[in-house]
Amino acid sequence: MTRVFSGMQPTGGLHLGNHLGALVNWVRMQDTADVTYCVVDLHAITMGHDPAILADRTLGLAMEFVAAGVDPDRSTLFVQSHLGDVHAEMTWLFSSVTGVGELQKMPQYREKSERVTGKHAQVTAGLLTYPVLQTSDILLYDADEVPVGEDQRHHIEIARDIGGRFNHRYGDVFVLPRAIFPEAAARVMDLQDPTAKMSASADSDKGRINLQDDPDRILKKVRSAQTDSGRDVAYDRADKAGISNLLEVMSAATGRSIDDLVEEYADAGYGTFKGAVAEAVVELLRPMQERHAELAADPGEMQRILADGAAKAREVSAPRLAAAKDAMGFLPA
Ligand code: AMP
Ligand code: TRP
Repeated sequence: MTRVFSGMQPTGGLHLGNHLGALVNWVRMQDTADVTYCVVDLHAITMGHDPAILADRTLGLAMEFVAAGVDPDRSTLFVQSHLGDVHAEMTWLFSSVTGVGELQKMPQYREKSERVTGKHAQVTAGLLTYPVLQTSDILLYDADEVPVGEDQRHHIEIARDIGGRFNHRYGDVFVLPRAIFPEAAARVMDLQDPTAKMSASADSDKGRINLQDDPDRILKKVRSAQTDSGRDVAYDRADKAGISNLLEVMSAATGRSIDDLVEEYADAGYGTFKGAVAEAVVELLRPMQERHAELAADPGEMQRILADGAAKAREVSAPRLAAAKDAMGFLPA
């Protein structure tokens, strides 16, 4: 059976882009693969973080996963720091087969280190070695496939490089993973600026539908979404970016084809169409929000799920770490 691994950082609540671009795939892959999903909290501390909210965000992200349909009985769901011993030790071993130059070349490192430079903040060693920890996450679980966004392309490539180098030097221990990218249609754009991706870090919240937004807020945001001055609802990514984004969102939310939607709404006017899009999004999110409220009312239950997940994850990853140490020739304890 194909093994799948992916993770997200607990940096705040999720939005519709995270759901349609990532979570929907995660949920679907449970049907055909052996899946492991991780809240990668050890990755969330490399640029400074607020200790007062890290734990809540970690638990909250795990709840969003489950509310979206990640099923603890058919997947392994765990928090990275709960296996910090295994992941951190593996990272140390991998760091000895990783070049500093390789890490300095990573686009995400360059971008993030530029962002902190000049703000009297430090470019931390953690920011540089971030991809080595990510390599450990993936390789410790024998992942064949890693569903991620395009921006993670280089991180999966370096995981293959590091794993390949380890295998070459010390013997075949690790499976080399490949990245699985969502289809183009799964890129949800900002409602206020349909040329930019919907993003957690956008200055304004108006262009972003958060998974926990109430129906009223969703309606307001969709109604004020930027559109062109035309009148017909048509699919044209270049000239009608706003309408096209709404068509894609509605198509993803309802399972109806874009052609089908265009046929129904072509002459309906933007107002009517936006009302229908908002309703479709509200209906998509309603069951998830209900499930989320139940989970939030009983955090102990989520803690138990994560404790089970950590135990299952350890059964897979601890033997991989042991095999790596054995291959490298360490004296058994
Ligand atoms: P991030 O919040 O950027 O760490 O992303 C977490 C996951 O959600 C990754 O798999 C991203 O590719 C995906 N994602 C984030 N924003 C969008 C978006 N606007 N459209 C589609 N997928 C997205
Ligand atoms: N770096 C990834 C991101 O920012 C998160 C991540 C950490 C990850 N470890 C992973 C993703 C392992 C996939 C597999 O989105």
